Amino acid sequence: MFDFEYYNPVKVLFGANKSSEIGNVTANYGKRALLVSYADVSFFEDLISDIHRKLATHGVACVDYFNITANPLLCQVRKGAEVCRKEKIDVVIGLGGGSVMDSAKVIAAGALYPHDMEKMFLFSHSHITQIPPTEALPTVMIPTLAGTGSEMSPTAVITDETSGKKSYVWEPSCLYPKVAILDPTLTVSLPPYQTACGAFDIIAHVIEAYFNGDESNGNDLALHDSMQLSVIRAVWETLPRVMEDPNNLQARGVLMWAASIALNGWLTSGTFGFTPMHQMGHVLSAKYGATHGATLCCMMIAWLKYFDGREDGGRYRKFAKEFFGVSATEASAMFEKRMRECGVQTQIREFGVRDDEIEELADMVKSVSFGADGYLNAVPKISRDQIRDLYRLSL
Ligand SMILES: [Fe+2]
Repeated sequence: MFDFEYYNPVKVLFGANKSSEIGNVTANYGKRALLVSYADVSFFEDLISDIHRKLATHGVACVDYFNITANPLLCQVRKGAEVCRKEKIDVVIGLGGGSVMDSAKVIAAGALYPHDMEKMFLFSHSHITQIPPTEALPTVMIPTLAGTGSEMSPTAVITDETSGKKSYVWEPSCLYPKVAILDPTLTVSLPPYQTACGAFDIIAHVIEAYFNGDESNGNDLALHDSMQLSVIRAVWETLPRVMEDPNNLQARGVLMWAASIALNGWLTSGTFGFTPMHQMGHVLSAKYGATHGATLCCMMIAWLKYFDGREDGGRYRKFAKEFFGVSATEASAMFEKRMRECGVQTQIREFGVRDDEIEELADMVKSVSFGADGYLNAVPKISRDQIRDLYRLSL
């Protein structure tokens, strides 16, 4: 494996009803909190009332910022950072799924950021003008969905509503949350579709690491491969149990911790961190508002099919053989069957994509995610025409 530096300072409180500790946890970081959540919080009003009470009990004043949507926008986090400055906020709480937690991080950094917040993100990998943040207010995360792993990562994804580009900031020096409160009881009321999309997002995070493992220079991937396959298997086997019994807290807990493990660096340190399927999925979310996990379902199916017959598709065939004991094409069909059983889209036409838009989509991936060498980072590297072919295969 490659040399690496590993750092993950996030304190995790895991267990049923752990969210009741939000008051004393937050009080460690200040007296004024910004509570960030969705524009529509009607589905967890009781939880919010409880959080308000717990914060007040521990002497923390709370300002609500309920203005985040799925695929959150730059204008939403800009406004949140303004509220932080105006209200002299000490600590930011993210209550929700990946969109909310990503926004909470960016708002916390934006409150102290001296530049326009558009500069914070890597909106082009070939002409880099990004100015990463160097400091942020402390954040506390309470995920209500197992999926993105944002609660234990220094990454946030935002869409610029002006350019239509969706991209990310990754900054370990200041974007790690201080505390992640993982309370599986908060996920039991999630609709099945959101639960499944979250689970497939977890699988996609791990499978991207597996697909992009580099065997070309004798790297020993035995440790990574076995850890990655184990996490994927745990999610694969747990999801049907959760779909059958949404109140199964043990199974909900497995998904929740798997989401954190998938992106907290354990499975990827010492390997490439390429996420090419995510780059293609982001374009679908930015242009069609497609749910993140669903875009990845379409991508995983297409990628397994596409690389099965290719000389450079060894990692894809290896995954299929190790995980299912079948060919990559057959593994693709098994993925598709499971995804459809869970009610998740498996073809991008289901998001509204038309055949005559495929070229434009390929150009969008190129403009945001291609490096200066003219390729999308992956093993093997992906050309613009291959992006087009992959989208077409997923249509
Ligand atoms: Fe993801």
